[in-house]
Formats: sequence, structure tokens, C-alpha cells
Amino acid sequence: MKSALLFPLQLLICASLAHTAETDAGRARSSQCAACHGQNGIATQPDTPNLAGQNEAYLIKALKEYRSGVRRHEQMSVMAKGLSDKDIASLAAYYSRLPASGTP
Ligand code: HEC
Repeated sequence: MKSALLFPLQLLICASLAHTAETDAGRARSSQCAACHGQNGIATQPDTPNLAGQNEAYLIKALKEYRSGVRRHEQMSVMAKGLSDKDIASLAAYYSRLPASGTP
């Protein structure tokens, strides 16, 4: 009986640890995005979108579209070329969890 309760708890702990590792990797990767999108995902330039609090699935889609060329932008197409699927997943996990109400 006891182990039946323990197992879902262990799964939950593993899942949350994996998520922390993912957002940590995203934070490390985001240093190359900060010049334009801000340290905390709030853009420093008026023509640059905020990323903080954006939907995770949308961020993944946008980055993959820049990378494949479906979506084009002089700077973002270059930035996205160097990203692996794992980089994109961790960046999206990181930015989607930042508060959208932050300041640059
Ligand atoms: C040199 C400035 C610059 C850098 C560095 C940069 N970006 Fe961008 N990013 C932009 C601009 C400008 C846009 C808007 C492009 C457009 O109109 O499509 C944009 C758009 C985006 C979008 C789409 C947002 C939306 O609302 O559709 C995402 C996601 C994104 N950037 C993520 C990143 C990530 C992740 C990095 C770092 C790996 C990064 N950017 C680095 C300037 C930059």
C-alpha cells in the first residue's frame, strides 16, 4: 500500500528535477539572446518582442521556423541556425516561465 503512494511521488520529484535542469540550461543559453530580448526576457529595443511569459509551444514553433527558413528575419535567422532541438526546448521552457510583468 505504502509503495503505491510512493511511486507517483517519486515520479513527480523526478519530473520537477528534470524541468529545473531544462530551465537552467535555457538560462545559460539565453545569455546570447539578452542583448536584444533583455536579461529577463523583456526587450531592450522597441522593435524586439518580449519573450517572458510567452507560450512555450509558440516559442518552440517560432524558433524552429526561423531555423528552417519558414520565418525569416535578418538577425533571428542567424541566431536560430546555431540552436539544437534541445537548446530550443530549454530556451522555451526558460522564457515561458519568466514573469511577463518584468522590466528590461
Ligand atoms: C540581435 C538582436 C537579437 C538577438 C541576439 C536575438 N533576437 Fe530574437 N528577435 C529579435 C527581433 C528583432 C525579433 C523580431 C523578428 C521578427 O520580426 O520576426 C526577434 C524574434 C524572436 C522570437 C519570436 C517572437 C515572437 O513573438 O514571434 C523568438 C522566439 C526569439 N526572437 C528568440 C530568441 C532567442 C531564444 C535568442 C537567443 C538564442 C534570440 N532571440 C536572440 C532580435 C534578436
